[in-house]
Amino acid sequence: MTFKKDLIIGLSKKNKRIPSKYHYDLQGSKYFEKITKQKEYYPTRKEKEILKKISKEIPKLFNGKLSYIELGSGAIDKIKLLINKDVKYYVPLDISLDYVKKSVKKLKKKYPKIKIKPKKIDYSKQFKIPNLKETTKVYFFLGSSIGNFYNKEEIKFLKKLRKSISKNNYLFIGVDLIKNKTTLDKAYNDRKGYTAKFSLNLINIINRTQKTNLNIKDFYYHGYYNNKLRCIQGFLVSKINQNFSIGNKKFFLKKSERILVEISNKFTIQSFKRLASNAGWTTERVWLDNQKYYSLFLLK
Ligand SMILES: C[S@@+](CC[C@H](N)C(=O)[O-])C[C@H]1O[C@@H](n2cnc3c(N)ncnc32)[C@H](O)[C@@H]1O
Repeated sequence: MTFKKDLIIGLSKKNKRIPSKYHYDLQGSKYFEKITKQKEYYPTRKEKEILKKISKEIPKLFNGKLSYIELGSGAIDKIKLLINKDVKYYVPLDISLDYVKKSVKKLKKKYPKIKIKPKKIDYSKQFKIPNLKETTKVYFFLGSSIGNFYNKEEIKFLKKLRKSISKNNYLFIGVDLIKNKTTLDKAYNDRKGYTAKFSLNLINIINRTQKTNLNIKDFYYHGYYNNKLRCIQGFLVSKINQNFSIGNKKFFLKKSERILVEISNKFTIQSFKRLASNAGWTTERVWLDNQKYYSLFLLK
């Protein structure tokens, strides 16, 4: 599915929506990195707290030489916490490869012995992993990205991974937990407005790729925790009545009409264990941060 097709399908729906993977051009990736550094955005801080805690346990968890394979690696900030002398390969896989390559350069300097093989993939489609011989493969899917799938498609994604990852390999997955609405609302509405900039950047991406002439000033970002759906919903809201076309298809946006551009599902330990089990995974371990805001699952 191309961006154009996804736009036409998503914007033709009664409740308009655009898949969140399209946020990540170079600028979008930079905005996301800014979000992760905001005080209100606890998921990055909490996940790093857990990763630091388990870094000493890694040699006891796995035997022999290791390959780390990271889906949606972004800034490659977290994996550094787990690198040790047993890591032979590191494979960052991301839709935003130009951004990842910049971070890879620094990592190569710091760890010249590790073979680093970045690759562009869309993990919502089929993808191949480079051949990594004679190593135990440890996959990572961090940053609560498992929460970003629409239509409960995370189960399909986990099933697909279960099929492609052999039984003696592992998957670490970062899972954000249900908590009070105030903390969640704040995390997705940082005071400096990077979440808004990240979402509004989608208008620039649409203009650049679809030759539309939408004005970013005619939209605002609105994101909040939906208690009933147990998820953050991020919308772009139209400030005016406006017409635009994607290819030959004409669209009309009413004043105050919303386009869903991001969701972030939240879980309980039990609900995620169940999801993983329904997708064919066994939960080996679960770690939590001190406040029990965030969890890291080791699946096999
Ligand atoms: C929520 S960010 C998490 C980044 C990083 N793992 C972290 O923990 O901070 C999602 C990352 O996945 C990438 N991404 C999003 N959708 C993707 C897709 N369908 N295929 C591959 N990468 C994707 C983005 O470019 C971004 O780097």
